[in-house]
Amino acid sequence: MTESVCSPETNPEPALSVYDAIRRRRDVRAEFTGEPIAADVLDRILGAAHCAPSVGNTQPWDFVVVRDTETLTTFADHVAGARRRFADSLPEDRKKTFDPIKIEGICESGMGIVVTYDRSRGGEHILGRHTVDDTGLFSAVLAIQNLWLAAAAENVGVGWVSFYDEPYLTELLGIPDPVRPIAWLCVGKVAEFQQVPDLERFGWRGRRPLADAVHLEKF
Ligand SMILES: Cc1cc2nc3c(=O)[nH]c(=O)nc-3n(C[C@H](O)[C@H](O)[C@H](O)COP(=O)(O)O)c2cc1C
Repeated sequence: MTESVCSPETNPEPALSVYDAIRRRRDVRAEFTGEPIAADVLDRILGAAHCAPSVGNTQPWDFVVVRDTETLTTFADHVAGARRRFADSLPEDRKKTFDPIKIEGICESGMGIVVTYDRSRGGEHILGRHTVDDTGLFSAVLAIQNLWLAAAAENVGVGWVSFYDEPYLTELLGIPDPVRPIAWLCVGKVAEFQQVPDLERFGWRGRRPLADAVHLEKF
């Protein structure tokens, strides 16, 4: 067996139960301090992402670490445009609720991790994807969730930004065809984790009760 970042060996990571990490995790926008993350912490977070399950074990993800301030600013400007377009599309009452909501911390975090999905990885015959094509994309998203939870365990904040045009981000980072950027994650040290999600605190939308999401025997 080859030794890998995913081997279940004794490890130096912070001890936190998975439930604690799930509860601590927040989508972070305003709480980034801008302090750099230590290289070993970043390695552990990316290592956790890379341990995600994937259809046919294709591991269709890649991670582009972006720290260049010019790229961060350029992307933040693009996102500001997408935010304006969304705000303009809203009815007046929703626009008022949306106005104070911050939707990204691209520059403040000091680092973006762009997660990509490569549908061509593993070739034509992907075990388990022949019936449900989306399973490839699901796999890359699982890497993101691993990253998000590992970051929470490390006291590092993550904010997912999806206010962008995919061709724009593809071009900005020189992502080759057919690879798709599927998330820009703002990643950085935080002053604190909010206890309540921003969208709930600002009255946009709350979490629905678990009982509404659980169905017995039939939907
Ligand atoms: C696929 C996806 C895309 C998201 N895009 C954005 C975004 O563009 N801007 C933003 O502020 N939050 C974004 N979020 C974060 C959600 O708003 C957030 O997860 C949700 O409000 C629940 O809050 P919590 O993550 O703190 O529990 C995104 C989350 C997901 C899963």
